[in-house]
Amino acid sequence: MTPWCGVIEAFRKFLPVTDQTPIISLCEGNTPLIQATRLAKRICPQADLYLKVEGANPTGSFKDRGMTLAVSKALEKQARAVMCASTGNTSASAAAYGGRAGLPVYVLVPAGKVALGKLAQAMAHGATVIQIEGNFDQALSIVKDVCVEEQFELVNSLNPFRLEGQKTAAMEVCDQLGRSPSYHFLPVGNAGNISAYWKGYKEYRAAGQITQLPKMMGVQAEGAAPIVRGHVIDHPQTMATAIRIGNPASWKLALQAVQESSGTVEMVTDEEILVAYQALAKEEGVFCEPASAASVAGLTKDSQAGRLPEGATVVCTLTGHGLKDPDIAVNISPKTRTVKASRDAVFSLLQI
Ligand code: F0G
Repeated sequence: MTPWCGVIEAFRKFLPVTDQTPIISLCEGNTPLIQATRLAKRICPQADLYLKVEGANPTGSFKDRGMTLAVSKALEKQARAVMCASTGNTSASAAAYGGRAGLPVYVLVPAGKVALGKLAQAMAHGATVIQIEGNFDQALSIVKDVCVEEQFELVNSLNPFRLEGQKTAAMEVCDQLGRSPSYHFLPVGNAGNISAYWKGYKEYRAAGQITQLPKMMGVQAEGAAPIVRGHVIDHPQTMATAIRIGNPASWKLALQAVQESSGTVEMVTDEEILVAYQALAKEEGVFCEPASAASVAGLTKDSQAGRLPEGATVVCTLTGHGLKDPDIAVNISPKTRTVKASRDAVFSLLQI
């Protein structure tokens, strides 16, 4: 068996690289597609449910698929530095891949609204981390200006290479399932990923690898749901900080994906997200970050409303690893107990 060498090598013929492109890879991709039978029995008994576990990527999120290509292309064109705005995961991924490429990395994040694990990653990989007293949308607008003036490479999903790399996730899902799913649920923030998946599915069909296309089902958090509401949200709010975005850069592309595929964009409350987040961890052994669980929250809602047909094959993308945001997990779980180091004390706590 040839070893897995990352998404550029695996999907080279679908990607804009040449023999001259220096490939910066951490062997991203090839993430598990796990069948979730226990969860399906409870939330969507009429369907087969699979989880695409993108937290298994090298920096713990799907961003690595796009970052390998964006940073490789930045190096190819001899960019001076790479820069991004981020709710956390993009900054972690840019820092890792940029560091590996030997490029300076600058990241702008909303102060106090980035999960600890993500901040730790960007810092550990040596990026210059700048926290702004504002939100992601403001950070992105500043970063766009700086990149033009300083001729830095912008590695947000406005960079077309990011979406090119991320589309490989859809292709992998088809390879793993042996066909395309009928429904694909994804959390939506800056709206790049849902657009990338749709591109991937369409290109795979054009290449004769699949015959059907899934319905693309985007899920936003209720307090940060500009696409669902049809207008920019100036002060987006949600505890799912990864998708706390009020003016998504790929808004139009995402709407196009949803319309062309006869899918939907819907919103779920923070409570619904947390219910799904806990169910995934407890019932399926899959620890994702809160934003990721929005996909399963959306599925739950659609299934309960009778919108999911009998026999559907559903994939939910779980975009980031639960360890990114340890504070949430600790805060919403029952407190742990500390007792004397004795057998009796321990036995007294066992519920058997
Ligand atoms: N899930 C997670 C864990 C994310 O980090 C993001 C986006 C999304 C979902 C939404 O994906 O933006 O393509 O619609 N995070 C970006 C960041 C904004 O800066 O890390 P999207």
